[in-house]
Amino acid sequence: MSTVLFVFGTRPEAIKLAPLIEELRRDSFFNVRVCVTGQHREMLAQVLELFAIVPDVDLDVMQPKQELSSLAAAVLEKLPDVLRQFGPSLVVVQGDTTSAFAAGLATFYGGIDVAHVEAGLRSGDVSAPWPEEANRRLLSVVARYHFAPTEEARANLLREGVDPARVHVTGNTVIDALHATVARMPAEEADPSRRLILVTGHRRESFGAPIEEICHALATIAREHEDVEIVYPVHLNPQVREPVLRILGGIDRVRLIDPVDYVTFVQLMTRSYCILTDSGGVQEEAPTLGIPVLVLRDTTERPEAVRAGNARVVGTSRTAIVAEVTRLLTDREHHASMSKSSTVFGDGRAAARIAAILREG
Ligand code: UD1
Ligand code: UDP
Repeated sequence: MSTVLFVFGTRPEAIKLAPLIEELRRDSFFNVRVCVTGQHREMLAQVLELFAIVPDVDLDVMQPKQELSSLAAAVLEKLPDVLRQFGPSLVVVQGDTTSAFAAGLATFYGGIDVAHVEAGLRSGDVSAPWPEEANRRLLSVVARYHFAPTEEARANLLREGVDPARVHVTGNTVIDALHATVARMPAEEADPSRRLILVTGHRRESFGAPIEEICHALATIAREHEDVEIVYPVHLNPQVREPVLRILGGIDRVRLIDPVDYVTFVQLMTRSYCILTDSGGVQEEAPTLGIPVLVLRDTTERPEAVRAGNARVVGTSRTAIVAEVTRLLTDREHHASMSKSSTVFGDGRAAARIAAILREG
């Protein structure tokens, strides 16, 4: 029996690792252990509850307005004891958060193999997304298994000199989580008299002026279109909440809500006319559901969605956002052309593929 330790800290990592945890738990070859860093607290708890994941250990590192260095240092300091306690032959991390990178580095220092799920995404710019682009590149240096979601991600890794035998294209596990969630959702009729625009945003490089621009754009859109309702689950980061609540609080047709559980969020996505986001996961889910997505960033590491016609990178300028949303609201053909469901990020069987590869060793 092989002990596999999952280490993660944030909402998207939990959503994307849940299908793999479930898959390995079904196979008696694996002894599955889960360590959460606690980088997120409430937002992680929502996902753990939904997927019935009870962590074996919680490093409890979250601080209000936490700094990246102290976060990374706390994980580096605390993980070695967990590695000694469980003695895993493999540690699985996901994506590009500081939890994932610090856990990968601590595992590498401990002489234990690292498996990196969602490997090979690249924006080509270490300042955007910041610090995630650096975190994922650094993980590619220390990982032994690289599970790339797409051929393009694989090509990025090979360009950086990663051994091709260690790179496996599996699809993204978020699509597994999405399919499982859609399957257990109650059927619902959308209200045809209201067009829902769903918004999320939390990127560090947008703090300050860009986030304020986004909010002013949303206020303009709500004012100009009486049949539109903007629903915005606001991330718990105080640097996001302060400007969003100040600029958009009390505006007609803008509903600011707390982060919602994954089932509720998927339901909101399926009912949306379009989605505005800087989220990585949402850029993968919206195309799968056939909902047009406008990316509130200057660059993306998920160009597959843009090429498939589901996503457009619009940046953070007020004028550009208002123009792109207005086009989607007024040009039905354009909206239809962005509404074709796409499988560029996977077919929902990524976890099974990863499990099969890990079993072979
Ligand atoms: C982190 C990741 C980012 C990922 C995002 C997913 C890093 C550097 N950033 O960014 O890659 O896309 O998670 O959402 O790893 N907070 C709470 N409760 C929570 C979660 C956060 O109160 O459940 C507040 C805390 O004040 C915390 C702050 O949000 O200090 C920021 O959290 P942090 O994890 O540092 O940054 P995110 O923007 O969430
Ligand atoms: N999500 C959620 N509730 C919300 C907002 C988002 O469950 O209120 C889900 C979303 O479907 C996606 C993931 O959280 O799977 C994205 O997380 P986030 O945007 O925080 O991180 P990123 O994907 O940018 O790393």
